[in-house]
Amino acid sequence: MAYLSTDKKKITVNTLLQMKANGEKIAQLTAYDYTTAKLFDEAGIDSIHVGDSGSNVVAGNADTLPITVDEMIFMARGVARACNHAFVVCDMPFGSYQVSREEGVRNAVKIMKETGVDALKLEGGIEILDTVKAIIAAGIPVEGHLGLTPQSIHKLGGYGLRAKEEAEAEKLLADAKALDEAGCFGITLEKVPAQLAKTVTESIHGITIGIGAGPYTDGQVLVYTDAFGMTEGFKPKFQRHFAELGQGFKDAVSAYCKAVKTVDFPNESESY
Ligand code: KIV
Repeated sequence: MAYLSTDKKKITVNTLLQMKANGEKIAQLTAYDYTTAKLFDEAGIDSIHVGDSGSNVVAGNADTLPITVDEMIFMARGVARACNHAFVVCDMPFGSYQVSREEGVRNAVKIMKETGVDALKLEGGIEILDTVKAIIAAGIPVEGHLGLTPQSIHKLGGYGLRAKEEAEAEKLLADAKALDEAGCFGITLEKVPAQLAKTVTESIHGITIGIGAGPYTDGQVLVYTDAFGMTEGFKPKFQRHFAELGQGFKDAVSAYCKAVKTVDFPNESESY
């Protein structure tokens, strides 16, 4: 039952590569704080992704662009502290690596130093290859991110399926191979056709983690608030609800309000 492993040995890049070699799927979820990450780690998740989706989930922004390096550090530090087992990857936020290679390395080192995460993820392909190589040369494991790259949402013009046309699919495959050769231990593939994700997965040495990329990637990731039914009105085709925690939260809040208003809470045994 590898998906609920009781082996609490910390997962590393080597473990992930070995899982790919063994054909064992990698289960990843996002998390943005200590308490949630601790629950996920104790439940046996393989990897936690501190996503810049925290910009939407935690801060309520419309997209991922506004979140800062320091805000990512605040979230990632709590997640890293919680994980005895899971491999923790943190997003480098928009603007922290696009300006220059030097600034990319400086921000990457800062995030690693101040959080304790195991790796960083950057969006983009050949355009950011120099920066990716320099960060890896600094001793930091890097994961790429291709397909729908939310930091470029204004350029892409929407959150639809990517690489359905041949030219974009060819570029994506070339980007994936270039990132792999540069030393990335893996690549997240977001919202691309399943057959393309299969080709990429079979063409690279590193792992692939899919979100809306079909069943053939080495692992899957979901934004946990979406996967656990906490975000109303957001249910794209690739999304499955593994729980309805949103309703659970609302029921708990109603029960609390009722108990307070009827002076049922606190009762005698709950008072000093
Ligand atoms: O920020 C995020 O949540 C992501 C997803 C691909 C998991 O990058």
